[in-house]
Amino acid sequence: MPSTLPDGDPVPADGSLPAQAYARMADRSLSVYLHVPFCATRCGYCDFNTYTAGELGSAASPQSWLDAALAEIDLAAKVLGAGGQHRPVSTVFVGGGTPSLLGAGPLVRLLAAIRERFGLAEDAEITTEANPESTDPELLGQLRDAGYTRLSLGMQSTSSRVLQTLDRRHTAGRALQVVDWARAAGFEHVNLDLIYGTPGESDADFSESLRAAVASGVDHVSAYSLIVEPGTRLARQVRTGLLPMPDDDVLADRYLLADAALSAAGMNWYEVSNWAANDAARCRHNLAYWTGGDWWGLGPGAHSHVGGVRWWNVKHPAAYAAALAGRSSPGHARELLGRQSRRMEQILLELRLADGIGTDLLTAAGRAAAADFAADGLLDEAWLAKGRAVLTLSGRLLADGIALRLTD
Ligand SMILES: C[S@@+](CC[C@H](N)C(=O)[O-])C[C@H]1O[C@@H](n2cnc3c(N)ncnc32)[C@H](O)[C@@H]1O
Ligand code: SF4
Repeated sequence: MPSTLPDGDPVPADGSLPAQAYARMADRSLSVYLHVPFCATRCGYCDFNTYTAGELGSAASPQSWLDAALAEIDLAAKVLGAGGQHRPVSTVFVGGGTPSLLGAGPLVRLLAAIRERFGLAEDAEITTEANPESTDPELLGQLRDAGYTRLSLGMQSTSSRVLQTLDRRHTAGRALQVVDWARAAGFEHVNLDLIYGTPGESDADFSESLRAAVASGVDHVSAYSLIVEPGTRLARQVRTGLLPMPDDDVLADRYLLADAALSAAGMNWYEVSNWAANDAARCRHNLAYWTGGDWWGLGPGAHSHVGGVRWWNVKHPAAYAAALAGRSSPGHARELLGRQSRRMEQILLELRLADGIGTDLLTAAGRAAAADFAADGLLDEAWLAKGRAVLTLSGRLLADGIALRLTD
């Protein structure tokens, strides 16, 4: 997450949307994201909008955040209601930060408020992220009883050396234990997040992480290569030579290891970094992001996208709480997405999906680039002949570069 917010047009104090947005959002499903900006400690590689108690001091607290988030739910219901929108919410995703650090109380209360103000679809997918060290059977039981259906757990690795380099505060054993507890609590779907390419990680370390993830019986795995985010402790350690980052060939090999191990276990990729055991196990909330769905992002720094308007909230929890305490929208700025930027976004995000994109989205230059990529084995030739650009396994290794060329 960038440390400064991009410029855009101001958001009106009442949070109302432009008329075009109301017209465009009719009969589309709605998702809700809720950002929890707190962590017990900061992992050295992470630049998400999250704060430790020491960093926040008395400027903001979980209580001021909770009050503000409840107020933003009211505001969202009013703003969407003004457009005649009473669509029940189809997916909720509580992310962070570390939602599990809050305990069940606030997470249960906020879901109840979303249910009360919007209604939840009967088959709604309700996910919370969690960290292994702050998750126990009692928390899981309370969340499941309240209606949470899906748990996304940051395991990252089974190697204690790798976990230490990443500054993680849990053991691999604890993460696997939480998966068992989540199953016992009745969660319908459980995801494990893995990171590959940490300095010092070997192919064998990553293979063992994959083996353990598969053996745990989860129905979803996300595997992301470690990104060196500017301004983080990791970036300094890499710059000073303390931690040598692996090169692109090593990262490509790790990705291939992931795809081989997960597909052998019956988990197929549906997005470049995401594998699921079956269609029901795919994360519908993330699919809504990737396919241009409507979502309201609650919380400090959260982004929203409704009816072709994108806006983002003020970043600091104190500024967020102050805006809502003053009965104003916490929106920092917004932009109305034009046809061209919607097309670009669609290509960049949907090419990463296993279904790929229709070539009718591409210009003549983009279609010529697609033909070249197919000849190089990076796009599937048979699918391209049928009018779709779909990445091959080799293409997935270069997904973002290919997508960028297709936007020509
Ligand atoms: C921001 S965290 C929030 C959930 C939770 N606190 C956790 O750590 O799992 C979501 C995921 O993003 C991953 N992540 C954060 N920074 C990253 C980076 N620089 N490179 C790769 N993954 C990153 C985390 O490891 C985690 O699995
Ligand atoms: S626990 Fe998660 S959100 Fe918090 S600093 Fe670590 S990776 Fe970032």
